Amino acid sequence: MKSHHHPTSQVISYELEASIFSWEIAEGKTVEAWGFNNQLPGPLLRARKGDTLEVKVKNNLPEPTMIHWHGIRLPASMDGTGEVQKPIEPGEEFTYRFVVPDAGTFWYHSHANETFQMERGMYGGLIVEEGTALVTDGEKVFLLDDMKLTAENEFTKPGWFIPRIMERHDGREGDTLLINGKENPTISIAGGQAERWRFINASSARYIQLYLGGKEFKIIGTDGGLLEHPQTVTQVLLTPGERIEIIAGPFTEGESFLIETLPYNRMTFLKAKRQTFATIQVGAQKPSVAYIPQILRKIEPLAEKEAPVSRKLKLSVGPSLKHGMDFLVNGDVHTSDQPVKVGELQVWEVANSSLMDHPFHLHGFFFQVIEENGEAPDYIAWKDTYNLPPRSRIKIAWMPDDRPGEWMYHCHILEHHAAGMMAHFEVV
Ligand code: C2O
Ligand code: CU
Repeated sequence: MKSHHHPTSQVISYELEASIFSWEIAEGKTVEAWGFNNQLPGPLLRARKGDTLEVKVKNNLPEPTMIHWHGIRLPASMDGTGEVQKPIEPGEEFTYRFVVPDAGTFWYHSHANETFQMERGMYGGLIVEEGTALVTDGEKVFLLDDMKLTAENEFTKPGWFIPRIMERHDGREGDTLLINGKENPTISIAGGQAERWRFINASSARYIQLYLGGKEFKIIGTDGGLLEHPQTVTQVLLTPGERIEIIAGPFTEGESFLIETLPYNRMTFLKAKRQTFATIQVGAQKPSVAYIPQILRKIEPLAEKEAPVSRKLKLSVGPSLKHGMDFLVNGDVHTSDQPVKVGELQVWEVANSSLMDHPFHLHGFFFQVIEENGEAPDYIAWKDTYNLPPRSRIKIAWMPDDRPGEWMYHCHILEHHAAGMMAHFEVV
């Protein structure tokens, strides 16, 4: 990338070509992937806050596709859903063009036939860099995923009634864990270094209880960029669609540990297990220049915990003769919601009355969770995806800035989204 004397006037151009190709996830283990530029994940896109991103997408798949820029506050017409654009037909192309107004860890993914296309690899990372006091010794971006494969490394088919119902209920989870398209690779970091690691959960349904062999790490950012203060933890939950940025290290020369997911019980038929994403190998010691400030940035709360609720959403699961079960928003599948007005603060209560977890995702806008089950949160963060455990309730605040058009929210377990847990609404 060129130098950035006038970052807000930069236009960064990329080309993504969607096609089917073979991809080696481990030595001798090849899958028939669907993805971008013959790689899985697709190319990592990078820009600076304020740049214009221009991405030409060519569709060489046998079916239509569209690209959604998860987390980016872009114009409605660029959101990549069927409500705002015609799908890109096989052999055709479409150029997405928008400013990236916020720094953070984002991603792009197919928003057409998602349960099929995303499962096969139609996703990639998008990093928007900030100007900040934070200095680290390096950076890594990790896209986490899983695949459900047969012994012949083919994607399993939906199958007969019971497995189909189970997949609809649990979402599609497979035992083949991938980190940047590979099964348990060895990743190195020099001893003594503190690096910025950005994690993106690109899986269909897997809840990742991220764990680095018991080592402490600092969470510095979530979906919408940096937090106010670093949070020191040994594990963190990353649900489908969510992002987390951490400071990893310093580690000691010669040591080795795993990036794992600990079991997270979300009431699925298939039992949650502890599983490995990657092996970290710590190399020769190097001097560090890292500087992690105690205040990463200021985040103004959008509303008080007591702010009056302007809208109530209820996520639920109900019986269905045809499908076994339906996934509902306010009692309906694939529904539409009332419009919201530009400049009018939204305070929504989102209640999950079902007995399973749902990661709630709002397109195009960030929200703050201002209350969870009656309690104020520990800290304020900008989010676009947030998990609701069974029988839980959150209050979110968000501001519809001046980007009128059709938007949506949905559960980011792709099978739940497809089974109806979504709603459109208009910003007017
Ligand atoms: Cu990443 Cu409509 O979603
Ligand atoms: Cu769900």
